[in-house]
Amino acid sequence: MPLTGLFGPEDFGAHATSKNPVAARGPSRERFASLPAPSLEWTPEVERATAHLYERVKEVIPPVEWPFMAPYIKAINELKRERNAVILAHNYQTPEIFHCVGDVGGDSLKLAIEATKVKADVIVQCGVHFMAETSKILNPAKTVLIPDSRAGCSLASSITGEDVRLLRERFPGVPVVAYVNTSADVKAEVDICCTSSNAVQVVESLGSDTVIMLPDQYLAKYVASKTKVKIIAWKGACEVHERFTGDELRSYRAADPDVQIIAHPECPPDVIKEADFTGSTAHMIDWVRNNKPKRVVMVTECSMADNVQAELPEINFVKPCNLCPHMKRITLPKILDSLLYMREEIVIDPMIADKARRSVERMVNLKN
Ligand code: 13P
Ligand code: SF4
Repeated sequence: MPLTGLFGPEDFGAHATSKNPVAARGPSRERFASLPAPSLEWTPEVERATAHLYERVKEVIPPVEWPFMAPYIKAINELKRERNAVILAHNYQTPEIFHCVGDVGGDSLKLAIEATKVKADVIVQCGVHFMAETSKILNPAKTVLIPDSRAGCSLASSITGEDVRLLRERFPGVPVVAYVNTSADVKAEVDICCTSSNAVQVVESLGSDTVIMLPDQYLAKYVASKTKVKIIAWKGACEVHERFTGDELRSYRAADPDVQIIAHPECPPDVIKEADFTGSTAHMIDWVRNNKPKRVVMVTECSMADNVQAELPEINFVKPCNLCPHMKRITLPKILDSLLYMREEIVIDPMIADKARRSVERMVNLKN
């Protein structure tokens, strides 16, 4: 069914402008010993020590590039042991990060669940700021670092906690679901969170005939098409997925009628209509693993196709290369600095974190 309402900041008199994530100088810098900067020379020893990692990415990283990456990869993996740290890497990270330094890789739901299980002292989040905040919310005793705190998200910056309070005044008693792509302030104001993996299930779990779902209007439209629950949405959009068009996909099909097209639900409806399958990043990867198409277009951030190509070299990926500028702020040199200098630490006001935890945990604890 179509959306029941679509709201944005201009619909409220007093809109508090959302802030971009800011760098935090957290308490942990003082608690951790300073460490010497490692050598970053390409030597036979580095080549030997990283040969097994190159095997994982040789389909997608040319041999001439490896000597620039391998010294960082070796140093980061050693520093992880010294700092007792784990790296959680989102599916949109580049292959040298995802396959060679990440300890756990996945979509935002998997990373949130894994964050609750981390035993190490330090989590380095290779993803964007809201993902690092989610890890801190779920495992507050850990030091959570993000290699560049400017790694934001157009969805997270489209709405504030104040906007949610105004929506609640406008629609008293209507439960509010927030996509995890939101700040801790927003998560603290809502009833439950969702990801693109579980959005329909979360909306239906509330037992209400109407639900406010924010901030992604396209995810909301997708959910509305899959459920009888009436959805009131927010006017946010992902700057990467909203650029895809139905025409673009039709031209791929015209060039090869057998090509398979799979899309993320953050895409606009005309794109979803053209797709053979729609799902979260994890569901898209599972679809490719299970269906083994000859040729496939992954309509999402383009590093993900590289990560799956590394694992499944026999599949031909057509790559419309829309990069997320925020995800791409995370690089090997910044991860190294993050572990060396314990920056940039995620700090959340404990009162906000406690309220936000209720919404995220309610999602994580939903039974399948
Ligand atoms: P997933 O939840 O599918 O990993 O998506 C997160 C995201 O940022 C998509 O743009
Ligand atoms: Fe946000 Fe879109 Fe980047 Fe995902 S791809 S982090 S939704 S801007």
